[in-house]
Amino acid sequence: VSARATPAPETVAGRRQDSATRIRVAVIGASGYAGGELVRLLAGHPFVEIVGLVGRERDHVPLGDVHPHLDSTGLDIDSATPAADAYFLALPHGASSARVAQLADGGRLIVDLGPDFRLRDEADYPRWYGFTHPAPDLLAGAVYGLPELHRAELAALVDAPVRIVGAPGCYPTATLLALAPLAWAGLIGDLVVDAKSGVSGAGREAKADLMFDEVNESVRAYGLGGHRHVAEIEQELAACGRAAGLPGAANPGVRRVDFVPHLIPMDRGILATCHVRPSRAVDQAELDALYAAAYAGEPFVTVVSDGPGPATKHVRGSNHARVRVLHDERTERIVAIGVIDNLVKGAAGQAIQAFNLAAGLPETAGLEQLAVVP
Ligand SMILES: NC(=O)c1ccc[n+]([C@@H]2O[C@H](COP(=O)([O-])OP(=O)(O)OC[C@H]3O[C@@H](n4cnc5c(N)ncnc54)[C@H](OP(=O)(O)O)[C@@H]3O)[C@@H](O)[C@H]2O)c1
Repeated sequence: VSARATPAPETVAGRRQDSATRIRVAVIGASGYAGGELVRLLAGHPFVEIVGLVGRERDHVPLGDVHPHLDSTGLDIDSATPAADAYFLALPHGASSARVAQLADGGRLIVDLGPDFRLRDEADYPRWYGFTHPAPDLLAGAVYGLPELHRAELAALVDAPVRIVGAPGCYPTATLLALAPLAWAGLIGDLVVDAKSGVSGAGREAKADLMFDEVNESVRAYGLGGHRHVAEIEQELAACGRAAGLPGAANPGVRRVDFVPHLIPMDRGILATCHVRPSRAVDQAELDALYAAAYAGEPFVTVVSDGPGPATKHVRGSNHARVRVLHDERTERIVAIGVIDNLVKGAAGQAIQAFNLAAGLPETAGLEQLAVVP
């Protein structure tokens, strides 16, 4: 189905590559928003060949019928899953876990954009997602695909017998990038996350409460009492403390995170404002030093320290995140803000960044687009 005629890799499939070979990738769930964004980015990726797009009950359906902006790729959507070296799955929760065991066979690389491989504890699936995980034995070896937190584990998948990435959720990405330097320093005494998302974060499926006249000129809180993304935010902030060698009692605020998401009348973008009661006295200079050190050299995270606050418009269409941290001397709280494009750094772009690491490719390959403004 690919518009390109390129040689398939002749060595171990999907492992270390050079520019002479392309990794054969397929996208499962190509008709959705995250799937479409994967195709948009993978179509320009220098080291991959798209060998198949998979959708339910669709055969030889031109991609342009479903995503007109991708018409020029010349690709089709089919119901059969093609042979490939790597599979990106962009399906609702519970839909990918049953098929991944088979797809991952033989060391094929799996990048799941849903939550089915994000959580390490199988008990979290019935609790937060309402289903029993069908392949719990695969959870321990799966890697949470946030490169800024798990770069070494993602790179180690190059030589692993089973290679599964659970790509992070969109809210957790913005939240974790805003907070990780504080968690590594054991500074999170108490935590409230107030987050906003554009409507594409809810996917493309038609829903009455996402109609234009329900969303437009309105802001709505939802997920009250415990949004699903709390599970991975708590899991990953706790893991930051462990990775920094801190005792289990460090960062008490990450055990019971208060997280309230809001729906905003815009297409794309997430802004997470995190209110932290620090576990000890800090000042702005210490915070600036922590964030500068944490994100020095990160290709996709920019720490902003002055000018207008981080805005979703500054990252729209790109794989970049922008982070700002402020110490409020009056309230003695820390405010940490993260912005991303939910469909790029929050979904398809981040999945490709993790894929690049797990395939032994340059981390930024295919992801060098700058933001679109206005
Ligand atoms: N949207 C975001 O900002 C975002 C960010 C991070 C992660 N994610 C995650 O990425 C995944 C996809 O999200 P999305 O926003 O792209 O959703 P979406 O626009 O609703 O697309 C869902 C895709 O899954 C297919 N599908 C639905 N039910 C299925 C089933 N039972 N079996 C097989 N295929 C099925 C749909 O096919 P049809 O066209 O046939 O319905 C469509 O291709 C979700 O797990 C989501 O949580 C999304």
